[in-house]
Amino acid sequence: MNAANKKINFYFWAQLITYHLSLITQKMRQQIVAGNWKMNKTLDEGTELIKSVLEKLEQRPRGPVVFATPFPFLLAAAKILKVRKGFYLAAQNCHHEEKGAYTGEVSVDMLSSVGAEYVIIGHSERRQYFKETNEQLAKKVNLALGKGLLPIFCCGEPLDIREKGTHVGYVAKQLKASLFHLPTAEFRKVVIAYEPIWAIGTGRTASTEQAQEMHAAIRVLLAKKYGKDVADGTSILYGGSCNAQNAPDLFRQPDVDGGLIGGASLKADDFVAIVNAMK
Ligand code: PGA
Repeated sequence: MNAANKKINFYFWAQLITYHLSLITQKMRQQIVAGNWKMNKTLDEGTELIKSVLEKLEQRPRGPVVFATPFPFLLAAAKILKVRKGFYLAAQNCHHEEKGAYTGEVSVDMLSSVGAEYVIIGHSERRQYFKETNEQLAKKVNLALGKGLLPIFCCGEPLDIREKGTHVGYVAKQLKASLFHLPTAEFRKVVIAYEPIWAIGTGRTASTEQAQEMHAAIRVLLAKKYGKDVADGTSILYGGSCNAQNAPDLFRQPDVDGGLIGGASLKADDFVAIVNAMK
């Protein structure tokens, strides 16, 4: 073998090894199912629900299972969940300032001090009823990440935007405004939940094609901003009338990595079926 051939041979093997190493080290994205209880349940009902879900789940879930309980139940829920691997606790909101004179509000520090590991940020109900702005949401994201909480960042379009066909641009704007200031290392910790507003609590789920189209578009956007590796490693959950019947089809879509579940997370059997639908 002459010197030129040897060199080509060397580069060939070096490239092959690098490629295989990159496959091994590439962060595969997780599937996640999170139950958003909203303003439902009492303490006893809530702890019963969690215990019942844990009992009914026969096999270890294929990805993290998150319970987003109301604030007053977090501590009790944390005590039940901390002995079970693979189950996590989320708050449904946090305040955008670190602390101070904000009567009735709850800070990120308070949440982590009672055992929350995730926090839902930017749910459409918070945007709509509490007039939360993209700027406030960006602050919440920063605070959460700064204090070690993982944001589940919600985005999604209202019905009129969907009907106009401008939904991809609308969601892109939400993501850019509240997340794209993050450096890559921080962005990697964010979970995205796509929740079309017209599908939330209405019984009108997005079709698998509609969900896949938007999730794929979000991933393309993330790839443009943070690179393919980060985009491929980001979990994008679907939310909006996801239930035991439609979860298997939705979760089978290549870019749907689980779900953020409202109504169906309030019944143990339904939630367990959705957890079991993780592919
Ligand atoms: P839904 O709510 O499953 O009841 O539609 C989802 C959500 O708002 O997170």
